[in-house]
Amino acid sequence: MKPDPLAGTNYKMLSPIDQGGMGEVVLAERLEDGAEVVVKLLLLKYANDPRLVDRMEVEAQILEALKHPNIVEVLDHGVTPEGRPFFVMERLHGRDLADHVDAHGNLGVYEVVRLLSQLLAGLEAAHERGVIHRDLKPSNVFLAESFGSIKVKLIDFGIGKVLGNTDIPAPAYPTEAGTLVGTPQYAAPEQVKGRTVDARTDLYAAGLLVYHLIAGRGPFDHSANMGAFMRAQLTEEPKPPSFYCPDPVPLELDELLMRALAKDPADRFQSASEMRHDLQQVEALLRAPVGYAATTTWDAQELRTLALDPPSDSLAPPRVPTLIVDPKKAALPEELGETRTLIPRAPKTLIIELPKRRTYTSFAIALLASVVTMLMVGWLIVSYS
Ligand SMILES: Nc1ncnc2c1ncn2[C@@H]1O[C@H](COP(=O)(O)OP(=O)(O)O)[C@@H](O)[C@H]1O
Ligand SMILES: [Mg+2]
Repeated sequence: MKPDPLAGTNYKMLSPIDQGGMGEVVLAERLEDGAEVVVKLLLLKYANDPRLVDRMEVEAQILEALKHPNIVEVLDHGVTPEGRPFFVMERLHGRDLADHVDAHGNLGVYEVVRLLSQLLAGLEAAHERGVIHRDLKPSNVFLAESFGSIKVKLIDFGIGKVLGNTDIPAPAYPTEAGTLVGTPQYAAPEQVKGRTVDARTDLYAAGLLVYHLIAGRGPFDHSANMGAFMRAQLTEEPKPPSFYCPDPVPLELDELLMRALAKDPADRFQSASEMRHDLQQVEALLRAPVGYAATTTWDAQELRTLALDPPSDSLAPPRVPTLIVDPKKAALPEELGETRTLIPRAPKTLIIELPKRRTYTSFAIALLASVVTMLMVGWLIVSYS
């Protein structure tokens, strides 16, 4: 049997939960009172890497500073006798969104709206404290069962960015400009380019996550390879999620997600609270009494045909500008379960240095410009003397 990585601490490992590239997450018992907790600790092989030790400590400090019902709670932190930094979290029951989708398929529009609302509340709290999550994706959003209802909890601030305007200590080894920090498939254009990220970067990822949930795919999943995918992220206008979704998507939700996915952060929602405000209006529409906002309703067969055989004319995408406002009709999506595709298991978080081509290009342009200027000045001097 593997030795207990928590031996010598106030905790005892019960069973492993997950292992990522840098750390592992285990279910543990608090010796003092036998309570079940979840511990995240740095892999032993990285215990001597000051950068990764620092990252793990920053993650613990961020979570300790963020007390919010939609963010996982941290109870303690420390270092094992082997030198592995760890922190202790409340044990969440349920599963993360990636596992949920693997098991149950996509969520219905109404569920998605409620999920996004809670997720934005968590983000709002983090942003207020000057913390950018930077790695929102299904496996980092936990659907916690609590008293018979589901509470969304943001987890994994492992590559969270601490902005200057906060009392949370900044990492001793901040990531450099020109580095893609995040998960490429969920990265906003500025993140793909290794530029400065801010609250709006998280709002892009939140929009993309919800897009996946209702469309069953990402807006650029048709790209032939990763290079094409990243180019599409920078330049291709996404189709609205209703284009792919077999269920009717409220036009307002379509528009909200398209705004979240704007390439230029200036065209997105500027804050989580602004986005949540608009979302509340969508929520109100969905809750409205029968007939209030419905223009059309679709029968199951019609939807099925649309989903299985989407019209090929991409210039005139089949918008489904319909609201299902009848709670009884909301059962419709279940019938279409088999036509949906699943989000693949969440891709990996990466920190990669981007090619410095842009810098070389600007250097070459500057050099050329100075040579031309010098030649012109020389020519002027020669011709006037
Ligand atoms: N407090 C918790 N309670 C229950 N499960 C958790 C908890 N924290 C994390 N997990 C599970 O462990 C997985 C990995 O945790 P995460 O913090 O995302 O680590 P990594 O940095 O390796 O991605 C999560 O996707 C989730 O399923
Ligand atoms: Mg994670």
